[in-house]
Amino acid sequence: MKIEGKEYRTIWFENNIVKIIDQTKLPHQFVIKDLKRVKDAINAIKVMEVRGAPLIGATAAYGLVLAIIENNDQSFLKKTSEELINSRPTAINLKWAVDRMMKKLSRVNSNEILKIALNEAKEICEEDVKFCENIGISGVKIIEEIYNKKKGTVNILTHCNAGWLATINWGTATSPIYHAHKKGIPVHVWVDETRPRNQGANLTSYELNEEEVPNTIIADNTGGILMQRGEVDMCIVGTDRTLSTGDVANKIGTYLKALAAYDNNVPFYVALPSSTIDWDIKDFKDIPIEERNSEELSHVEGLDENNNVKKVLIYPKKSKTMNLAFDITPAKYISGLITEKGICEASEEGLGKLFK
Ligand code: MRU
Repeated sequence: MKIEGKEYRTIWFENNIVKIIDQTKLPHQFVIKDLKRVKDAINAIKVMEVRGAPLIGATAAYGLVLAIIENNDQSFLKKTSEELINSRPTAINLKWAVDRMMKKLSRVNSNEILKIALNEAKEICEEDVKFCENIGISGVKIIEEIYNKKKGTVNILTHCNAGWLATINWGTATSPIYHAHKKGIPVHVWVDETRPRNQGANLTSYELNEEEVPNTIIADNTGGILMQRGEVDMCIVGTDRTLSTGDVANKIGTYLKALAAYDNNVPFYVALPSSTIDWDIKDFKDIPIEERNSEELSHVEGLDENNNVKKVLIYPKKSKTMNLAFDITPAKYISGLITEKGICEASEEGLGKLFK
């Protein structure tokens, strides 16, 4: 997708270096960062220079490529694969990508291993682009149906950033929106600010602006009244881990939006590539929920009057904070899952029909 009219992907490989867009600098600065060693890739995931389930999976895959360039030794590869998996706990794509790479790399000879690793990391990215595009092709039908009934702008609420910046291209939740926009269907996006890191305001609104998709940032608590007023036609969000039961882990606050949508008969869709499905865990209480640094709550970053980026404390110095990064939306509140293979019910049966 575009930034200042130029096409980008979120990650690419050039001259033995992994290139990423540093998302901690957006929206005020556009910085392409070099990852030269596997520890840079692990750090980029931890501090969220890259974030979003599919993108952290792809970064981990390229991290293993960097590990091989650094030290072509199986025990180093094994150790770094574990560090990569542990760099963030909730998004299953991380483990999915590392397991896929390690399976491919087991029992290959050391002369070939770099070439095979690089091909597989590229393949993971190409597949994600295709899957996200397919999500858009399926999801746009829902938007089109609403438009045909309403004959007016379709208002879509989204939470966090499940946009192209969270994937390689297209995004998951945003892909149907970009497809609708490209088809000339009038859409407008309500962008949840998404405290504490503001991925909605800083990333979703930024990327929608760059693609000229009309959008409005709202405080996280605004969605409820907009739904009561009939100003939200549908919600689409992404997910970090979807269970085979159809229960969905996503950015903290997603659950409350789903409850409000359910109470107001607003369709609530979750968009995901199959790399986000956890086929093993059956009970959502077993999903590891990331708890992040309290500074994400107590401090905010922005531009000062001289256009310099500045971080300031906004809470009482003595106050305690608690920062859970994800919550679970039970399947009963989800109207459907939009996947690369089509749309299904959020249930074992629904997912089973598409993927087994
Ligand atoms: O903590 P983040 O910014 O990595 O959280 C991202 C989300 O919750 C996204 O909605 C999810 O990863 C889906 S990305 C297509």
